[in-house]
Amino acid sequence: MNVIITGGSRGIGRAMVLKMAAAGHGCAFTYVSNENAAKETLELAREVNPEVKIKYYPMELKAPDKVEKTIETIIGDFEDITAVINNAAMVRNNAAAMMSNEEWDEVIATNLSGPFYVIRSLLMHFLSNRKGKIINISSLAQAGCSGQINYATSKSGLIGMTQTLAKEYGAKGVTANVVTVGYVPTDMTKNHLAESLHKFWLQHCPMKKAGSAEDIANLVNFLISADATFITGAVIRVSGALPYAP
Ligand SMILES: NC(=O)c1ccc[n+]([C@@H]2O[C@H](COP(=O)([O-])OP(=O)(O)OC[C@H]3O[C@@H](n4cnc5c(N)ncnc54)[C@H](OP(=O)(O)O)[C@@H]3O)[C@@H](O)[C@H]2O)c1
Repeated sequence: MNVIITGGSRGIGRAMVLKMAAAGHGCAFTYVSNENAAKETLELAREVNPEVKIKYYPMELKAPDKVEKTIETIIGDFEDITAVINNAAMVRNNAAAMMSNEEWDEVIATNLSGPFYVIRSLLMHFLSNRKGKIINISSLAQAGCSGQINYATSKSGLIGMTQTLAKEYGAKGVTANVVTVGYVPTDMTKNHLAESLHKFWLQHCPMKKAGSAEDIANLVNFLISADATFITGAVIRVSGALPYAP
């Protein structure tokens, strides 16, 4: 199986690339600006499994024409793509009353429109193969998160998008699911989460710990497997039982 992972250069996306390599899946992963991190992911994946085909591609999610071109190139390089994981995302936090048009637009374009462009570029390929697995990575913020109205809106939008895809294409061999992620230490949380919120997550999480990028990668690997063929339109939370963001 060949898989596309957006944002595979760092964090949770990198753990997914390594998991794909371990599972023997070919993997095309993307980054936006951090080529060194993408190279590092590739080297780590080759250490995990030197036999498997792994390539990285720059892809700016905000640009629909670039997304379309990149997906076309990936399909050309890999010939057959079975699954896509829309993992890449960004934050630009601000209180709703203070949020600029630019902060709103950039996050919605990257986190919500971007995954749509990726999926739209792949759908004909999936439909002609009569198989395809779409996983969209959301967040507990989808149920509301102070200071993140743009991010929370993008992450709840992914749920409506996914459930629509499950209904439109379920009978045509295409499944679509959402993984709602809790707190996982990565560059995103390190650089954009207030100290008080790190404490909040750990105190309020019933398991009293953060998740790992591998916890998310493991679920994704199951959802794209033949063991998960009847799972579609599902929203699956991986958060150590923490039900909400602050
Ligand atoms: N970490 C958490 O606690 C947490 C919680 C809930 C949900 N999530 C979700 O999990 C996913 C992964 O998060 P993470 O923590 O691993 O993030 P991260 O460490 O910040 O990595 C973000 C990835 O997205 C790519 N990216 C950022 N902006 C992009 C753009 N405009 N176009 C294309 N690619 C772009 C980055 O590429 P470059 O390396 O080139 O910059 C990088 O590969 C996201 O969907 C996030 O919302 C994370």
